[in-house]
Amino acid sequence: MLHGPKKQKPWKGPLELTSTIVGYIGVALRHRNVRTRLLCGKFAAERLLVDKFLRGTKHGTKHVSFIAGFQHFPRYFDSDAQVRLLSDVRSAIAVAPLYAPAMPRTGKLLSVRMTNCGDLGWLTDKTGGYRYQQTHPETGRAWPRIPDALMALWRDLAHFPAPPEACLINYYTGTAKLGSHRDEDEAEQAAPVVSVSLGDSAQFHVGGLKRGDAKARLILKSGDVVVLGGAARMAYHGIDRIYAGSSDLLREGGLGEGGRINLTLRRVTKYDQGPARH
Ligand code: SIN
Ligand code: FE2
Repeated sequence: MLHGPKKQKPWKGPLELTSTIVGYIGVALRHRNVRTRLLCGKFAAERLLVDKFLRGTKHGTKHVSFIAGFQHFPRYFDSDAQVRLLSDVRSAIAVAPLYAPAMPRTGKLLSVRMTNCGDLGWLTDKTGGYRYQQTHPETGRAWPRIPDALMALWRDLAHFPAPPEACLINYYTGTAKLGSHRDEDEAEQAAPVVSVSLGDSAQFHVGGLKRGDAKARLILKSGDVVVLGGAARMAYHGIDRIYAGSSDLLREGGLGEGGRINLTLRRVTKYDQGPARH
């Protein structure tokens, strides 16, 4: 069989070229990764993750909004303020060392290490359960005082007439997380919980008043502050995971393991606000 010369595809001009390019862009845009990367630049991975939860998966689109009273202040503390606050936290840890808290009854260790500052500290162990007490469970010493920067934060955001009494210090490394829970060991629940993130980013969730309620998720980054007030004061919340290595703050600040620190300010005892004025 004779083969003639290979037929050349005729050049259809600039119109075809344009439509081919538009076609490729269309395919790229339909691919979620590409679209997200185009839209969100370096935050793509985090956005994609949040997106996945907010959209739902095989059960179709679901929109979850944050419960009333939940507030997020991204980068409330700038880089310099974070470095200063971390130094305060390290001084507190030097007096009140981090320890491994255990679940009531089972004695199972939490993956988060903890300590406190303030007049009262929150803790949990096998025999005593969840509680506040004035002393460190291992050293028996009083907790160090709450750093001034955190007292100022409370004055700025808590809108409550009395100061916080406890600052729980949570330290997350590697695969540490914190299961869904409510902060309910405080007699005073009219005051909000004010919490600061330092170091590695974390995926935080907040749901409703029942454990099974739909949860909204967001990424907390170093310097971010979250307030759980109003209805959100008694909402279920927790940390699904941390993004190990996403921040250098802790490593550069002398905590060789890196990781994430969370500081949670709480009013514990009831503050008598006097008779309500009409
Ligand atoms: C907590 O709920 O005690 C801590 C939350 C966090 O680590 O952001
Ligand atoms: Fe909590």
